[in-house]
Amino acid sequence: MGISVALVVVVIAGVIALGSTYPFHASCKLDWTVSTNCSAAMTAIENQFTAWADDSNCPQHDNERCFYTLKSKNGDTIKGTHKTPVKEYVDDLTFTFTTSGQSCKIHGFSTSETWYAVLDYSTNYCNLHNLAEGAGLTKMAGFTETTSDSICTQYSSRNCDKY
Ligand SMILES: *[C@@H]1O[C@H](CO)[C@@H](O)[C@H](O)[C@H]1NC(C)=O
Repeated sequence: MGISVALVVVVIAGVIALGSTYPFHASCKLDWTVSTNCSAAMTAIENQFTAWADDSNCPQHDNERCFYTLKSKNGDTIKGTHKTPVKEYVDDLTFTFTTSGQSCKIHGFSTSETWYAVLDYSTNYCNLHNLAEGAGLTKMAGFTETTSDSICTQYSSRNCDKY
């Protein structure tokens, strides 16, 4: 009895430790703020999906800034996918835009379609960040980005030049 209780405690502690480091499934949630209206921010993201739809921006398939597909734009939400150019893993992307005074708050979510993926070398983060950078959001006045390892897989070891 004592042993099984101890074992349960150890297992629970292990699960909590893993779960507090990264999400259980390879994914990334983040929040951006930009000092622009949401319709301009939405258009910028939408246009970037189109600009990077094929592989013209990664002809050697050696960077991730390509193979974005816009799936829908409804009200304040844009949905799409990103496919990695080499292994062709597909991630689902959702952007939600909320007006806040003179700013637009954008919630980004990227999640791997591969059900067993846990680690992703920060691919889900880069799916979101690269698109925002390409769209010019990261250079806009008042740009901020908020996320952390517990909600964004391998954020602190991110390498968006590669992944
Ligand atoms: C949003 O901002 C853009 C760019 O500054 C501007 O052209 C547009 O008129 C604004 N739209 C609204 C609805 O305020």
